[in-house]
Formats: sequence, C-alpha cells, structure tokens
Amino acid sequence: MPKPGIIGGAALVALIGGAIAAFAVTWRPAIETIEPPAPQSFDPALVKRGRDLAAIGNCSDCHTAPGGKSFAGGLAVPTPFGAIYSSNITPDPDTGIGRWPEAAFQRAMRSGVDRAGHHLYPTFPYDHFTNVTDGDDRALYAFLMTRPAVRAPDRSNDLSFPFNQRFVVAGWKLLFLKKGAYKADSTQSAEWNRGAYLVDGLAHCGACHTPRNALGAEKVTASFSGGDVDNWHAYAINAQSRSPLPWTTDALFHYLRQGWDSDHGVARGPMAEVTANLASVPESDVRAIALYMTSVFGPPTQDRLNQTNATRAEIKSPPVQPALADTPGASIYAAACATCHASDRPLPYSGINLRLSTALSAPDPRNAANIILSGIRPVGGERSPIMPGFANSMTDDQISALLNYLRGRFSSQPAWTGVEQIVRDARQTETVSLRTSSSPDTAGRTSERGHQP
Ligand code: HEC
Ligand code: HEC
Ligand code: HEC
Repeated sequence: MPKPGIIGGAALVALIGGAIAAFAVTWRPAIETIEPPAPQSFDPALVKRGRDLAAIGNCSDCHTAPGGKSFAGGLAVPTPFGAIYSSNITPDPDTGIGRWPEAAFQRAMRSGVDRAGHHLYPTFPYDHFTNVTDGDDRALYAFLMTRPAVRAPDRSNDLSFPFNQRFVVAGWKLLFLKKGAYKADSTQSAEWNRGAYLVDGLAHCGACHTPRNALGAEKVTASFSGGDVDNWHAYAINAQSRSPLPWTTDALFHYLRQGWDSDHGVARGPMAEVTANLASVPESDVRAIALYMTSVFGPPTQDRLNQTNATRAEIKSPPVQPALADTPGASIYAAACATCHASDRPLPYSGINLRLSTALSAPDPRNAANIILSGIRPVGGERSPIMPGFANSMTDDQISALLNYLRGRFSSQPAWTGVEQIVRDARQTETVSLRTSSSPDTAGRTSERGHQP
C-alpha cells in the first residue's frame, strides 16, 4: 500500500494547483432540501429491489460502525492518507439523508457530490457507482429512505493537509473519475453484460482487487491484478491469478454464493462480507457475476492446465521433500494442522488440502498469517467452517517457521521474504480487532474493517 510519504513534493504542488482549477470546473450547487418523504410513499417491490442492490454494493458494511445501528455511518475506513468516516445514510432529517431528494442521492452516486455541493472522498466508491442506472439508483433510494431513521452526526475525518481539503477531491475527479453509464457489449450475452455492469459498478470488485497509484486511484492498466485492503491481500482475479486450480464459472458461483468452494477454500476477511451479502441476492445476479469474471480470468493456458494436473496428482500422493522434513515448521504442521487439513472430511467443516490454498501461493503471507492467528470463528446460528486461532498458543517465531514450511511444501512459488515482520504486523492487527470486536460470534465472517477502533 502506498504511504503518504511517497507522494513527492512536486506532485503535491501540482495536485493542489490542479485541484483549485478543477474546483472551478467541477463546482456544483446545493440541491434544495425536501420534507422527508413518508416510507409508505415508496413501492414495496422497489424497496425490495433496492435491498438486493444495496447488498451487492456492500453499503451496510461500510456504513455501519462496530456495534452501531445499520446505515448510521461512523465506520473509520482506513486510507493511506488517514481515516475517512462513513456518513449516516439513514433517513434522519438532521444527521442523515432524510431531506435529500432523489436527485441529490443520484448525484452523490454518480459524481461523488453531496446534497450541499461538497465533493465526497472516493473511499465511497462512486468511481464504480457512477455506472448505476437511474432505475437502480431509484430502488436504492427507496430502500434507504424506508430504513429506521437514526440520529448520528457525521464524524470528522482524520486526514492530514492537504487531503483534509475537499477541493483536492475535485482534482482527483478530473484525473480519475470516468463518468458514464455502462455500455453494453453487443457481442456478448445479456447475462455476461449483466455481470459486467455489476462487477464494474455496484459490486465494485476492482476497488479491492485492483492495485492503486500514489493518489489512491485504481491503475486502469492493471485491472484485477491484486490489491490491498485492511491488512489483507485481495488476490489477482485475472490471468495473473495464483490460485493452484484455475477458477471456473461453477467454482466462482459457489465461492461467491456460499462463501467457499471445494477446490479453493473459504472466503475470509473483507471477502467474507462480500460473499455473505451475495448469499442473499437473486441467484441470477451471482451467476452473471461468475460468468463475467470467468472471461476476466480468461481460458487457462496450457502451462496452467499442466500445473493443474500436477497439483491434483500431488494431492493424491504428496511428494516427500527431505529438506523440509526436520524443520520446526514440519512438526508444528503435523501436530496442529494436519488433523483437519490432511483428512478426507468434506468441506467446509474440514480444511482444504493446503496444496489448493491461494493464501500459500500468494505474493506475500499476509492472509495466511491472519488466518493462522485468528482462525475462523463460527457464525451464530449457521453450520459454518471452524478453525481455531493460534494467536495465544504460538509465538511469532513459531508462526514464521510454520509459514516458511507451508510455502515450501504446498506451493510451487519461491520462498517468501520478510515473513517475521508480516507476522508481527498481522498480530498487531489481530490484537486490535479482538479488543474492539463487539460480537465475537460473527467475527470470523467480518473484516478488520468492521473492527476498526
Ligand atoms: C468502501 C466503503 C463504502 C461503501 C462500500 C459504500 N460507501 Fe457510501 N460512503 C463511504 C464513505 C467513507 C463516505 C463519506 C465520504 C466523505 O465524507 O467524503 C460515504 C458517503 C456516502 C454518501 C454521502 C452521504 C452524505 O451525507 O454526504 C452516500 C449517499 C452514500 N455513501 C451511499 C452509499 C450507498 C448507497 C452505498 C452502496 C450502494 C455505499 N454508500 C457504499 C464509504 C462507502
Ligand atoms: C472489500 C474488498 C473486496 C471486495 C469488494 C471484493 N473482494 Fe474478492 N477478495 C478480497 C480479499 C481480501 C480476498 C482474499 C480472501 C481470503 O484470503 O480468503 C478476496 C478473494 C477473492 C477471490 C478468491 C481468489 C482466489 O484465488 O482464492 C475471488 C474469486 C474474489 N475475491 C472475487 C471477487 C469478486 C467477483 C468481487 C465482486 C463481486 C469481489 N471479489 C469483491 C477482497 C474483496
Ligand atoms: C479444527 C480443524 C482445523 C485445524 C486444527 C486447522 N484448520 Fe486451517 N482451516 C480449517 C477450516 C474448516 C478452514 C476453512 C476451509 C478452507 O479454506 O480450508 C481452514 C482454512 C485454512 C486456511 C485457508 C485455506 C484457503 O486458502 O482457503 C489456511 C492457510 C489454514 N487453514 C491453515 C492452517 C494451519 C497452518 C493450521 C495449523 C496451525 C490449521 N489451519 C489448523 C480447519 C482447521
């Protein structure tokens, strides 16, 4: 993740200069307030559609603080420039959007401008939401305006100068915001186009899976090649994917819909929120997303297919690697992990054979360290995967030794570097998340983002 320091002074001056000019160009007037509309004035079918669209857009995950009321905002969303607090988007007339007409809501979604005319930070992913159709914005508005109103004043952001100046966002928009409706590709099926519209728009998959430049904008030339979110790596989900077995439409559908797939394991961290949301929306939308994403991955190359066969063969008869046999990591794996990960119990209640784990083939061990420390906590009221956390029973040295062993034994990628530091960082995040977690029941399915102090 870029640190603020890497933005050179010259770039900063250019940014501020550009922003002042841009402000003049992009200035928007306030939109008149209205009397809050009565909830009964909205068509229930429209409200229902808005509910599903809001789930696809993860609105509640960002707009609900730990232990707070739904959509009342106040969640700290970390950025390299400081924390930005999400807004109250309940229909409270004074602290929420109760006096916003639909046109103001649509302008916020499309151009990142609030009702009063202020630029909003792109942490609110309007660079994706800009493609949402009038009809879908109307449904989202109807859904939000019929939620319980919650009185919760917006918190001010913890940003350093000049990023605390909203006019800076005007410059950012001129450079990076490509407004416009989704343009259908007539050579593709309606289902594919539906998937593309959702992935690039409401579902904003690229917001996590595409790397960002020093100014926090997605690199358009590197779409879906892997990004960072809250001390997790959002893996490459294009031809650069490191997943040991290639993703197919069916595998993607299962993973996105039920949160796990037998060839790839479970979704954790911020991705667990995404899949929990997709579990409740029309199945056809998840199928469309899976279909479109298959074409983003592209057909597997011959190399990839050979590798796939090798991987399947290795699972049947694991190779003996003498160099790893007597390492401390080997004994820890045998004692603490193999019972679940090298057994034949079906997913998701046992672990996958770790030869299939993308976490162990990933460019760095962040996700693997996170999961070994915190495990997977059961979801209240559901039969869901469980893995114990090892934060209290293993030292950083033991976890590092284990990670080095797992990488050597279960992936065909070169050894990781900086493992010790990554384990220390992961433990720090784990401690913070445990301290502030309001509901341990759902913690395994909720991202660190939901647990920010
Ligand atoms: C990745 C986190 C994130 C997601 C996902 C997200 N938002 Fe937000 N949203 C924010 C943040 C942060 C702000 C505040 C931006 C600022 O203060 O400039 C915000 C601001 C807004 C605002 C402006 C409110 C105001 O009072 O100015 C609206 C409206 C809004 N979001 C609606 C939505 C809807 C609808 C969805 C789902 C379709 C959604 N958001 C999804 C983070 C998010
Ligand atoms: C809030 C951030 C975020 C969003 C939004 C998001 N992802 Fe993810 N995604 C992640 C993270 C983090 C992981 C790694 C999870 C893990 O280690 O279990 C991940 C993992 C995945 C994987 C597994 C890849 C592999 O090789 O194991 C797939 C597939 C995926 N995401 C697809 C999507 C799609 C499609 C969307 C949009 C519908 C999406 N993601 C939206 C953060 C996100
Ligand atoms: C009680 C059973 C159990 C034990 C013990 C256990 N795990 Fe797990 N583990 C699971 C389950 C269930 C999952 C979720 C399914 C999956 O993704 O494999 C999981 C997931 C994982 C994943 C993510 C795989 C992926 O990419 O989807 C990793 C990595 C992992 N475990 C490593 C370990 C290590 C290392 C140990 C030993 C220190 C361990 N586990 C001990 C049950 C267990």
